[in-house]
Amino acid sequence: FRALSLLGLLALVLTGCGRENLTALKPKGYGAQTSYDLIILTTVVMSIVLLVVAIVYITVLVRFRKKKGKENFIPKQVEGNKVLETIWTVIPIVLLIIIAVPTTIATFDLADTKGAKDKLNVEVTGNQYWWHFNYKGQEIQTSQDLYIPTGEKVYLNMKSSDVIHSFWVPSLAGKMDVNPENENTMYIKADEEGVYWGKCAELCGPSHSLMDFKIVAVSPDEFDQWVNDMQGVDPKAVAEGDTAKEGQELFNEKNCMSCHAIGSSPVQVGPNLTDFGNRSKVAGIMDHNKENVVKWIMDPESVKPGNKMTNNYPELSDEEASKIADYLMQLNPSEVTLESAGD
Ligand code: CUA
Repeated sequence: FRALSLLGLLALVLTGCGRENLTALKPKGYGAQTSYDLIILTTVVMSIVLLVVAIVYITVLVRFRKKKGKENFIPKQVEGNKVLETIWTVIPIVLLIIIAVPTTIATFDLADTKGAKDKLNVEVTGNQYWWHFNYKGQEIQTSQDLYIPTGEKVYLNMKSSDVIHSFWVPSLAGKMDVNPENENTMYIKADEEGVYWGKCAELCGPSHSLMDFKIVAVSPDEFDQWVNDMQGVDPKAVAEGDTAKEGQELFNEKNCMSCHAIGSSPVQVGPNLTDFGNRSKVAGIMDHNKENVVKWIMDPESVKPGNKMTNNYPELSDEEASKIADYLMQLNPSEVTLESAGD
């Protein structure tokens, strides 16, 4: 029973407890498919071993149990039987080879970054408790939502600005540690358009479990459009409507830009807000509406304990926060959004 509940727990972990495309069991990209095939292969091989061992075990238990009138009976001893010993040495070797060969091939294949030069490269930075994305050579910086084109390998060069995190989008690829000292590189490839949820998979502080992000895979045409739109952003563009305009002024007056950025500025103390209005979550976890933006601005500690915004946030009234929220919601530079990708 214990083994059964453990298996159940494992299945729950692998299926990601409900969030769409947060499961390693429905692969939607090359890396995840490769891992999934290996999971199935090893599970089948191990199940056969388990079955054979169980049958032998139960047979021996039943056949050679103590019987009435035969208390001192000792069955035929097979110690030193060359044929038997050869069989139970060769079979495990063959089984291990069946598992090891594809695993080794996959390991080298998934770690292969030779083709990276000609492809899209994104610098990924893990921060307590959000993700930053810098599209190399494209003058695009974003946070939380990583837009990629379908059908192409996208290389991720990953580092952390503080502690060790782990980048995991289960339906697209395996995990990769994100370390402060060294850069790790992996690639992802999405077969279909869609929104793929990701999680930080390394305990990194009180809000580790809230360090969610998304990969938004769109068609190559839509991706080009998105790149164009993002590159065309004017960080100083004046907001529309009175409250949003006031919000924009407050945003500048209160020095929000000393930590955040709009456009391609490399500032990344806090998340880049270029496409804030296009996101589907506030702070990666709350529904994307004005109420929650205000809640986040006024009391970030209640949403994500231990985050940097908590101690740095300027004195604001609810009304001021509401105006800033109006402004931030207008930051939606592209029609290529999560919705168009199917979230
Ligand atoms: Cu970052 Cu857990």
